[in-house]
This record gives sequence, structure tokens and C-alpha cells, in this order.
Amino acid sequence: GDVAVLVPAAGAGLRLGPGGPKALRLLAGEPLLVHAIRRLAAAPSVRVIIVAAPAPETEAVRELLAPIAPVTVVAGGRERQESVARALAAVPPDVDIVLVHDAARALTPPQLIESVAAAVRSGHPAVIPVLPVVDTIKEVHPAAAPAPAGVAAPPAAEMPSPGRVEVVAGTVDRAVLRSVQTPQGFRRDVLVAAHAGADGLVTDDAGLVEKAGAAVVCVPGSELALKITRPFDLVLAEALLHVPWA
Ligand code: CTP
Ligand code: MG
Repeated sequence: GDVAVLVPAAGAGLRLGPGGPKALRLLAGEPLLVHAIRRLAAAPSVRVIIVAAPAPETEAVRELLAPIAPVTVVAGGRERQESVARALAAVPPDVDIVLVHDAARALTPPQLIESVAAAVRSGHPAVIPVLPVVDTIKEVHPAAAPAPAGVAAPPAAEMPSPGRVEVVAGTVDRAVLRSVQTPQGFRRDVLVAAHAGADGLVTDDAGLVEKAGAAVVCVPGSELALKITRPFDLVLAEALLHVPWA
């Protein structure tokens, strides 16, 4: 059936540091959102794209994307979930598969978008792309000791912060853990029902579906679908643009 993609792009990008909304920050001279939309438009299954833009930038985003692909732009909300809900409300009636894709995952390859859409089409009501966890993962107790007196201002997010001490509670078996990416794909009715029952305590759309009791299946993700979150990621993304397979 027909596939629509909702693109939450209304976040502030606080962790990226000073600058405009993250979706409009430049990567190799173009906004992250442009990189993301170009890749979505290159996926043959995608027929409808609905962007949730930062509310004050709605008209500017419409003009920015018009030359790239036919898109509908709506004003995003205060939380990601609200941005997704607003975009979901704009999905045309004939669409029966809905993908939700973060603008911040600007380098997501069209092949991954196709793979998620294909898995929903083949009968899975909810599909997420995942990667294995590479680091050993520890559960920790909240900071036990206050920072020693005289420690300087907190360093940038990428730097170790020697003032913060936490105590290890245990080691999680990483073999059963997965890092979750987008696009996440859903049968339309499943996503609509999950959002109708949303209570705001969930960080992704599949989480809402899990709470509603439906099965969610995983397909292999892509390292190129990294979420550009901190300045480090922007440097990495810039480098990835120059590798032949990206
Ligand atoms: N998002 C959104 N509406 C919000 C918050 C987030 O549409 N109210 C979108 C972001 O634009 C992004 C995606 O959800 O494409 C994932 O969010 P995140 O990576 O956290 O982006 P920001 O919220 O912009 O970044 P930060 O949390 O650092 O401020
Ligand atoms: Mg955020």
C-alpha cells in the first residue's frame, strides 16, 4: 500500500550547542532537513512526506523544501511526540503504511527506508531498525559523591568530567540489547491507536505501540542512520558525506 513518512524536525537542538533549530543547521552547506528529505524522496516506496517544522519556521521550511520534493509542512509541538501527532493528523486517507523518521538522522540511506517499509508491507504491524550494542553497558546508582570542591566549570559534553562519580550497580547482558534508530514503520491504524493512548513517558513511537500491547519487530539498521545530536556527530556526518558508500 501507499507509504507516508512523518519527519519530526521541530526540535531546538540544544545538545548541538548555540545556533538555530537543529533541522536547519548546516551540514556541507545545506540544512540537515534537506539531506534527510532528499534521501526519503529517493526511496521508491515513499509517496507522501509530512514535516513537523519549528512553528515559527513553518513557511520558511515550506519554501526550503519545495525545490527538493513535494512535502506537506505542519507546525511541530513542544515535545517530539506532539510533533509526530500533528504530522500524523495530516496523513491523507488512502495511506496505510506510516514511517516516522527523525530529521536529525540526516544521512539515513534510502535502502534502509525501503527495508523498513518492505517489512511493514510484508505483514509486520510495527518495525524498527536496530544495531547491536558495541560497548559494555553498566547500570549505575545516581551520583554518590558530590564533586570535590574546586573543580572547574563542567567541560564540553564530549570530554570526561572528573567531578562526577557514580557507583556501578551491575552489568547488563549486552547480547540482548539493541540501539534503536529511525525510520520506524507502522501499519497506519496501529500507529494511530498507539498515539491515541499516549501518556508522554515514551521516547520513540515503537514504545507507544509496545505499551498498546502490539508486537514490534527489528530489522538491521545502518551506521549511516546515526542521530546527529552533539557537535561530535556533526563532524562525523561531514566526514561520512565523503565516503563512497554514504
Ligand atoms: N523533535 C520534534 N519536536 C520536538 C522535539 C524534537 O520534531 N518538540 C524532533 C527533532 O527535530 C529531531 C527528532 O525529533 O529530528 C529527535 O530529537 P532530538 O535528536 O532530541 O532533537 P532536538 O530535540 O532538536 O535536540 P535536543 O534534544 O538536543 O534539543
Ligand atoms: Mg530532543
